Formats: sequence, C-alpha cells, structure tokens
Amino acid sequence: MKVIRNPQKLNRILKRISCERKSIGFVPTMGALHLGHLSLIKKAAKDNEIVVVSIFVNPTQFGPKEDLKKYPRPLKKDIELCRKSGVDFVFLPDNKTIYPYGYSTFVKVEGLSDLLCGVSRPGHFRGVSTIVAKLLNIVGPDIIYLGQKDAQQAIIIKRMVRDLNFPVKIKIMPTVRLADGLALSSRNAYLTGEQRKEAAVLSRSLSLARSLVQAGACDSSRILGRMKEMIRKKRQARIDYIEIVDLENLEKIKKIDRNCLIALAVKFGNTRLIDNTIINHA
Ligand code: PAJ
Repeated sequence: MKVIRNPQKLNRILKRISCERKSIGFVPTMGALHLGHLSLIKKAAKDNEIVVVSIFVNPTQFGPKEDLKKYPRPLKKDIELCRKSGVDFVFLPDNKTIYPYGYSTFVKVEGLSDLLCGVSRPGHFRGVSTIVAKLLNIVGPDIIYLGQKDAQQAIIIKRMVRDLNFPVKIKIMPTVRLADGLALSSRNAYLTGEQRKEAAVLSRSLSLARSLVQAGACDSSRILGRMKEMIRKKRQARIDYIEIVDLENLEKIKKIDRNCLIALAVKFGNTRLIDNTIINHA
C-alpha cells in the first residue's frame, strides 16, 4: 500500500494503471474510519483490482460554527486499517494543495443542496460536491463507493455525476449499524453515555415508520407524528428535521404512493446525528 500526498503524482500513477485496463474502485472519506467505511472499502476490493481511499477533512463542507477543528483525526490508526483492508493507495492531501491561495471554483448542485440537511447546514453540500468533483478528477476511478447513511449526499453526487458527465459508476452501500441500531458515524464519539443510549431511538423511529407503512399507513403527517412523539420522549433529543421525501428530487410528499426516503436529523447536545430509510412502494 502506498500513501500519496501529491495529487499530480497519484493521477500519473493511476492513469498508467487505467491504461493496463485494471479497474479502480474509489472510497472518499474524512478519516476516523469505522466499520461503515470499511464495508465500502471491502466492497471496492471485491469489485476492483485497485482500491483508492482518500482521507481529507474537507474544510469547505463545514460551517463556521461546526466541528472542523475538533473532527477526529486518528491518522496512524486509519492508515493501518487501510493496509489491513486491502487498500492499494491512500490519498492524503493537505489543505493547501486542495485549496491553494486564491482558490475560487465551486460546484453546486442547485435545488437538492438546499433541502433537508441543506437548510441547517447552508454551503455544506456545495463543499461536498466541490471536493468530490476534484477527487474524481484526480483519481479517475471506474466506480465510486458511497454510503446510504448519507442519503442526501449520495443523491447529490449522483446528480452531479450525471449532470457533469463524470465517467464513473456509483455504488451505494447499506448503512452499517451497532447492535442497538445506531448508525455508525465518526461523530458518535462526541456523545455522552446518556446521549449514546438515547440515540438508538433514531433507528427505532425509522423501524416504527416502516412497520406503520407495512400495516397500510400512507399519510406522511401521521407517520411523522408518531416518529416525533417517540423521539421527543428522550430527554436530550432535539429534532432538527424529520421528512418523508421523493427519492429523486427530495421534495416532501404527503402520501406514500411511490418510492420515498424517510430522513431525519436530531441533535443530542451539540452533536447532530442523521439517519434514514428507503421505503419501496409496492
Ligand atoms: P465520511 O463521513 O468520512 O464518510 C465517507 C463515506 O462513508 C460516505 O460515503 C458515507 O456515506 C459512508 N458512511 C459513513 N457512515 C456509514 C455507515 N454507518 N454505513 C455505511 N456507510 C457509511 O461523507 C463524507 O465523509 C464526506 O462528505 C466526503 C464524501 C468524503 C466528502 O468530503
């Protein structure tokens, strides 16, 4: 496994590999790797001859009051995990190479970026689409692997790839969860003991929604009401949003009469957690 910091160098090596008709799988991350990230890496290793993982805590996707400074950076451990998981190249750029002095070009997927998480995190998805576009240009993978955990991010990247003709396939992998249902996230490390216990309510509320739909419920406001009631029972939980939206355009839907996404963001203290589930309409 090679750790490479220089984008031109990585690009040169990977171009040569592509010419040999070896397929390249790419997993972009911000590090603090957990089993969720590792599930993407394992799938990439299964599907491709070459696996590239990027580790870069991207400053443009953090708001001014967000956790950029304190975001966990256990770099040695991350590199070891990559080595053990069959990664061929770790791309580890620094801020100045990615955003040199005078940097002024951004990619924004209009509309989709301003809904759901975009409301309380203005600019977040503009930062995400910009860095992913840059990474796709540097790495030039055949397949990019993303997690369902960040459903809106995956939908936005899909749209960007389509709209800007990036020659890459996208695979979205299921959310990896802990025993009580809590979705793995680097931000879980911020939770206190009580918050950690309470946070299991998020996946339980999504399971409740799924079982209501299975039992025939289709009225979004009723389903959302039941979910909110369940979450509000937790002392530390503060709901940012819970919405039932169209899977393609993320617009709210009143009645579940097509495939949809139930997505939520809830704060426990200062820690904002997200989770979601897809409902496939029969
Ligand atoms: P990060 O939060 O490190 O996540 C990297 C990838 O891992 C994303 O595709 C995310 O959806 C996936 N992931 C995270 N938790 C997961 C879980 N519990 N189960 C399955 N997959 C999971 O998402 C980002 O970084 C950044 O926004 C990035 C795309 C790298 C751009 O900076």
